[in-house]
Amino acid sequence: MEFGYKVGLATQADAGSIAKLVNTEYDKTKAVLPLTEKEVGEWIGKGWVAVARKEGGEVIGCQAVTTWPISGWHEFRSSVVKEEERGKGISMELKKYLLDMVHEKEPGAIFVGLKNEYSKGQEVLKSLGFAKVSTDQIPQHVKEEILTVGHDQVWQWYVLGYTVASQAENHELVQDPLALKNVARNTQ
Ligand SMILES: CC(C)(COP(=O)(O)OP(=O)(O)OC[C@H]1O[C@@H](n2cnc3c(N)ncnc32)[C@H](O)[C@@H]1OP(=O)(O)O)[C@@H](O)C(=O)NCCC(=O)NCCS
Repeated sequence: MEFGYKVGLATQADAGSIAKLVNTEYDKTKAVLPLTEKEVGEWIGKGWVAVARKEGGEVIGCQAVTTWPISGWHEFRSSVVKEEERGKGISMELKKYLLDMVHEKEPGAIFVGLKNEYSKGQEVLKSLGFAKVSTDQIPQHVKEEILTVGHDQVWQWYVLGYTVASQAENHELVQDPLALKNVARNTQ
């Protein structure tokens, strides 16, 4: 195994490990929102939860994509890599894997990543072409929607596939997500 881990879709059997990984991080840093095993199971059932596993099967990283019910925007959610495995590109690879899957189904998909003051991984999103945009650049109906999908506050927005209306400073055009296709992946 070239990189010491493999990335693939989560199965229902992974729900407990994923919830544990995410909730341990929540307890420690509040960088992510807490999760129940049931919620994870529901997300896995919808198809877009990826995990990184070590050779023995241990889950060392997870990443979910959830789809917001009104706007249809896709959110990168519950991104956690075990502390001792960080900085090896695992989160990047999990995200690329899911971006490819979603784009195959929905080429014009819009993605969002929401960060709070404790969240890491902003450079990963930027490398993937996400643009950091201010809340006033987000359509009102989408801003309101975040309160219905489990967030209790507006965090920093990163978006991909959505062209912000204003070209004011810091509101650059979002890169073409399909340009990400050529990246080598380490998948199951
Ligand atoms: C965020 C998190 C999932 C990133 O996982 P990771 O596997 O370490 O991520 P990567 O190795 O892909 O990237 C880590 C950093 O190294 C950099 N990096 C990765 N590979 C690199 C490489 N080959 N060369 C140089 N830099 C590299 C990335 O730019 C990234 O910087 P960032 O953290 O400022 O974005 C992890 O730090 C974590 O679990 N943090 C706690 C939970 C959290 O904050 N989650 C995000 C919630 S929104």
